[in-house]
Amino acid sequence: PVGTPPQNVSMVIDTGSELSWLRCNRSSPGTNPTQNPNKFDPTRSSSYSPIPCSSATCRTRTRDFLIPASCDSDNLCHATLSYADASSSEGNLASEIFHIGSSNISGLVFGCMGFVSGSDPEEDNKTTGLLGMNRGSLSFISQMGFPKFSYCISGSSDLSGVLLLGDANFSWLGPLNYTPLIQISTPLPYFDRVAYTVQLTGIKVDGKLLPIPESVLRPDHTGAGQTMVDSGTQFTFLLGPVYTALRDEFLNRTSGILPVYEDPDFVFQGAMDLCYRIRPALTGIFRRLPTVTLVFEGAEMAVYDEPLLYRVPHLAVGNDSVYCFTFGNSDLLGIEAYVIGHHHQQNMWIEFDLERSRIGLARIQCDVSSQRLGIGS
Ligand SMILES: *[C@@H]1O[C@H](CO)[C@@H](O)[C@H](O)[C@H]1NC(C)=O
Ligand SMILES: *[C@@H]1O[C@H](CO)[C@@H](O)[C@H](O)[C@H]1NC(C)=O
Ligand SMILES: *[C@@H]1O[C@H](CO)[C@@H](O)[C@H](O)[C@H]1NC(C)=O
Ligand SMILES: *[C@@H]1O[C@H](CO)[C@@H](O)[C@H](O)[C@H]1NC(C)=O
Ligand SMILES: *[C@@H]1O[C@H](CO)[C@@H](O)[C@H](O)[C@H]1NC(C)=O
Ligand SMILES: *[C@@H]1O[C@H](CO)[C@@H](O)[C@H](O)[C@H]1NC(C)=O
Ligand SMILES: *[C@@H]1O[C@H](CO)[C@@H](O)[C@H](O)[C@H]1NC(C)=O
Repeated sequence: PVGTPPQNVSMVIDTGSELSWLRCNRSSPGTNPTQNPNKFDPTRSSSYSPIPCSSATCRTRTRDFLIPASCDSDNLCHATLSYADASSSEGNLASEIFHIGSSNISGLVFGCMGFVSGSDPEEDNKTTGLLGMNRGSLSFISQMGFPKFSYCISGSSDLSGVLLLGDANFSWLGPLNYTPLIQISTPLPYFDRVAYTVQLTGIKVDGKLLPIPESVLRPDHTGAGQTMVDSGTQFTFLLGPVYTALRDEFLNRTSGILPVYEDPDFVFQGAMDLCYRIRPALTGIFRRLPTVTLVFEGAEMAVYDEPLLYRVPHLAVGNDSVYCFTFGNSDLLGIEAYVIGHHHQQNMWIEFDLERSRIGLARIQCDVSSQRLGIGS
């Protein structure tokens, strides 16, 4: 809930961006407003406070801002945000009360966006906005000053996912495997210094390490080649040479199991070009697929079974469905980084420990974790 009186909002948790924002819809004066669950109406909140462009907050530079924030005709701070997937939004910076658990946090800076252009309007419509969780000064987590947060992203829409702000006793979880966050103090053109960057050291397919030189997995002198844990991106993207090595090995090991979808012009979401035809009766096939393991310093992330393939919506070949391998080629997207998306973070407990500059991982079913934390059913 946000504002006074509180309005319910739903927000996408995005570890890859900084400024939180809500889709705002000002009701016209004199009308009897009813809440649209996917919009926040600032005119109905007595605690809503737009930020003037004379404020220092308006001069904050973040990577989300396409251009520095500017002054609108009412002398309010106007921001335009843009993301790697070409979506964007535009509106005013403001501060509000966010009601989190039993506390009311006032003065939280967010963007009240009048214009939102997403890559998937149907999907965007399901939420009111975005919760910026990276390490930049305007992010939700920085403004709140939490030393750590954790989440579990459930594999289905059964609402068993968990976002935990701060710490809790999770001795039931067993020890987490930690990998350090990588920091580079000098600004480099391609390096996002407020992202959650980890060091990928290799990729295994059914336990066999792909022959990838470690140097291609490290950021170069321009900052290109960092590995980001980004809950705001769906799939996982690897730089060209690494993607090709993984694709070749996966293809080799699935050759007797699944027929490839041979259409040279088809590339799913612009970056995923290894797709298969699957007959309706063949859905149990997922368990026979090889396991892909992302290896980090000190921790691993194994991807197996259903999350390896994603069904292309609205595409069929005869009676077959088309499924694509859920790793894509960063080069085809024009991004200079390895990005670990939320699809591969499903059913893992992931702790972002800002205080000790590390990320902890453990495999768990989210419904188990929500039961142990005493939330949900
Ligand atoms: C917000 O959601 C809670 C829990 O679902 C519900 O009890 C409450 O009535 C909702 N409030 C508004 C203003 O819709
Ligand atoms: C804004 O909210 C009003 C109700 O308060 C609704 O009638 C109108 O359609 C909404 N506008 C948009 C663009 O969603
Ligand atoms: C928090 O805000 C809600 C809604 O405005 C109010 O009912 C509640 O009393 C507030 N709680 C505290 C601790 O201020
Ligand atoms: C978004 O939601 C609104 C209101 O619920 C609906 O009228 C509109 O058709 C939806 N748009 C899309 C693209 O789903
Ligand atoms: C955590 O919970 C376990 C039981 O679930 C208990 O034995 C342990 O003492 C607790 N640890 C802390 C630090 O509270
Ligand atoms: C898979 O790789 C092995 C070892 O390089 C090779 O001998 C085999 O022919 C390949 N199989 C296919 C179907 O490409
Ligand atoms: C598709 O399925 C229908 C109904 O099960 C069947 O009659 C038909 O032969 C199938 N077509 C192909 C190309 O397999």
